[in-house]
Amino acid sequence: MAKKIDQQLALQGGMKAVSTIEGKGEPKIGVEEFMSVAERFGFSEKALKKMRDAAEADDLGGGPFLANYYSDLPETKVKAYERIARETFGAKYAIGVTSGTAALNCAFVAAGVGPGKEVICPAIGFYATAAAVVHSKGIPIFCDVDESLGMDPKKIEGLITPRTVALAPTHVMGTVADMTAIMRIARKHKLKVVEDCAQSCGGKVKGKHVGTIGDLGCFSISAYKIVGGGEGGLILTDDLRLYERCQGIAECGGLWRPDRFAPPRYKGELFSGTNYRMPELEAAIDIVQLRRMPGTVKRFHNVKMRILKQLKTFREIRPQTLNDPDGEVGYALRFFPETIGLGERIVEALRAEGIGCGMRGEHGAPDWHVYHSMFPITTKTGATSEGCPYTCPLYTGNGGAVEYQRGDCPVADDLFDRNISVGLNQWFTAQDCRNIAKGVNKVLGAFCTEDPRAKAWV
Ligand SMILES: Cc1ncc(COP(=O)(O)O)c(C=O)c1O
Repeated sequence: MAKKIDQQLALQGGMKAVSTIEGKGEPKIGVEEFMSVAERFGFSEKALKKMRDAAEADDLGGGPFLANYYSDLPETKVKAYERIARETFGAKYAIGVTSGTAALNCAFVAAGVGPGKEVICPAIGFYATAAAVVHSKGIPIFCDVDESLGMDPKKIEGLITPRTVALAPTHVMGTVADMTAIMRIARKHKLKVVEDCAQSCGGKVKGKHVGTIGDLGCFSISAYKIVGGGEGGLILTDDLRLYERCQGIAECGGLWRPDRFAPPRYKGELFSGTNYRMPELEAAIDIVQLRRMPGTVKRFHNVKMRILKQLKTFREIRPQTLNDPDGEVGYALRFFPETIGLGERIVEALRAEGIGCGMRGEHGAPDWHVYHSMFPITTKTGATSEGCPYTCPLYTGNGGAVEYQRGDCPVADDLFDRNISVGLNQWFTAQDCRNIAKGVNKVLGAFCTEDPRAKAWV
């Protein structure tokens, strides 16, 4: 007997059991709902427009699709951000990630950091650099700084051991590290260089952007940086293999590949990674930020140089060394008074002149920008009671033993407490610069001895 048409398999010409879905419901998050959240953050009209475009562009039926992953757009916001980063900095490969710390974790693993390995990190910078080494199962070794507040190249070689795999200079607070000397040492000892550019995005050394001089460059593109939206990060490299290793960490082992689930394409390609994928929304904002970066940096740079050129020199004042004055981002002007006591008087007088500044001083609160206060590291406490990676047999069994305490890096101990920092604003006019220079000269002249042979500002 012939089956009724609605009982016949659709495969055999019967009626489809499911021809429409009646339940429509609501998108997971509607564009307007999404925009009302975005508007609360006070972004500019231009940034809001970018966000709306991102939200409307890729709606798969469930509302705005705010991930780079699975998108079939010809160029997602994240891909555009990476392209603009390659063009802006002049790097072959760029990866957008969720934070500067994530970028550092990827870079260290890519550089070969792992159990039993050491990375030489600066004594002044930020905890995230050393933390990312530990997160990559390696051990940070702190290198003292010089008067640039960057890693002192003269102190690096004494810290290199058979376990060292990388140097991780930080470009500190708008300045640039002595990359020429650092690269020379790294190449001599066959070490990788991971530049931490979180505080000096847009800085240059000999005309080359920081982040493109070492093997890998890491950036934080977070709201509290001069170039930043919400929370984001960036990795740059010219080396395909390093790029692929970074992707391995950032994209769950290998999901970034054209054929995501394919077996390894070459020996060692796939290892367990995590997910540091940058969201589309963040990328939409950071595209605006990156495009603005050259202008922002130029304004900061010009303000700083304009002020520095008008400053007199004094016997009791050592200006911060600028490793490459032309490449300075320059959002702060720094100098070291001979004593903390003198510094306190200068700070008080500068503030009275209307010049915003600060000095940590002798009894400053703990601060994770200097090595001796980075407690998650200095206490050598592992996430579990085994105390990895500090107790790892691959480390201790290979001569590794590390202790951290104030006194390890005496120059950093001293200069971190004794530096006076005058905050600069990219929008200062020529008259603002003249007034500030005049105020600094007046105050330093009142407490110090003018000396044309003293260390120059620039
Ligand atoms: C030198 C340095 N490295 C890394 C980071 C970490 O960046 P993020 O906060 O984006 O993880 C920061 C952040 O302030 C930093 O200053």
